[in-house]
Amino acid sequence: MKYDKLGLTDIEVSKVSLGTWGLGGGSVWTDKDSTEKEASSLLSECAERGINYIDTAPVYGTGVSENLLGKALKGRRDKFVLQTKCSLNWRGDGGAFHYERDGYTVNNDTSRSAIKKDVEDSLKRLETDYIDSIIVHYVTDRWPVEETVSALDELVKDGKIRAYGISNSQVEDIEKYHRYGNPALVQEFFSILSPFHGRDYFPALEKYGITFQVYGVLEEGYLTGPEFLSKEFKKSDIRSRLPWNSEEKRESLLKAYEKIRPLTEKYEASFAQLFLAWALGEYDHLNLLVGMRRKESVFDSTRALDIDLDSEDRILMEESVKSIQEKVLDK
Ligand SMILES: NC(=O)c1ccc[n+]([C@@H]2O[C@H](COP(=O)([O-])OP(=O)(O)OC[C@H]3O[C@@H](n4cnc5c(N)ncnc54)[C@H](OP(=O)(O)O)[C@@H]3O)[C@@H](O)[C@H]2O)c1
Repeated sequence: MKYDKLGLTDIEVSKVSLGTWGLGGGSVWTDKDSTEKEASSLLSECAERGINYIDTAPVYGTGVSENLLGKALKGRRDKFVLQTKCSLNWRGDGGAFHYERDGYTVNNDTSRSAIKKDVEDSLKRLETDYIDSIIVHYVTDRWPVEETVSALDELVKDGKIRAYGISNSQVEDIEKYHRYGNPALVQEFFSILSPFHGRDYFPALEKYGITFQVYGVLEEGYLTGPEFLSKEFKKSDIRSRLPWNSEEKRESLLKAYEKIRPLTEKYEASFAQLFLAWALGEYDHLNLLVGMRRKESVFDSTRALDIDLDSEDRILMEESVKSIQEKVLDK
């Protein structure tokens, strides 16, 4: 495993981090609801492979992911860098409507009081008295950035959080947040199937020493290999809502896999490892957030760090998926 500092903090994080949206199950990850035992052995596997950085959010399974992690972290909380999010809540005490799912109405609220309440709620579910890093889940202009940042800074002073960052942002938000505080990271969607979002962040991130944590690199499974393309998912499942689920895109992806297949032999790598290695090669201070519930995924993904793709192979991969790429994606 390789390690980096989180932004300009002294928090040391593994270059590959564990994403736990899937751990929340529910109507967006319908193939599997995880148990406490599974969550615990997933963390043990991460520890074994050197992954110390875990990402969750209150809304993943509407509390389920955080609750499972809280149990799984018992007795080893200090071995992990725990990150959750704020702004999206289902308390029904204000904010702007964001979505309705599994009988809950989720609102987005970045006001001071909402941010503070979010952290209190997460601390309870995670059964801990501090959170290492917290991300504003959906940046919004509805409340002044100054107010949101000062709430986060107060939480740092109170010892409830150690660092903070933003997500689902625009490049300009980096400047806005940096004007009032010190965001340690930006968490954004980053995919070879939609490479139009993300690269434009690099100059601002570099300027302020901010970590770029990327998600969706494996497109929720669509970039893990051709076998994935024969799977079917319920309508509510995130994987049936992605553009790659259409028959036309699946067929094009199958063709792309055949063009890329020789690289699996050249690098003795899985398709997943190749796409993860592609992302890693894009930016030095990139943190690779991978959604994983199976131990095999953890083992396989960490090995992507050993792959250094030749530039002609990076081009081959990008060219192979060119006809499938989409400009705008909202997960
Ligand atoms: N800020 C935001 O708004 C936002 C949005 C989406 C996601 N996220 C975060 O980013 C994380 C990652 O995104 P994601 O989970 O949606 O999608 P992802 O990482 O693109 O894909 C996850 C899927 O890939 C599979 N997988 C992972 N590594 C694999 C490997 N080496 N070989 C084969 N299969 C592999 C997983 O399988 P198994 O589960 O079966 O192991 C899972 O089904 C989330 O969990 C969440 O923490 C943040």
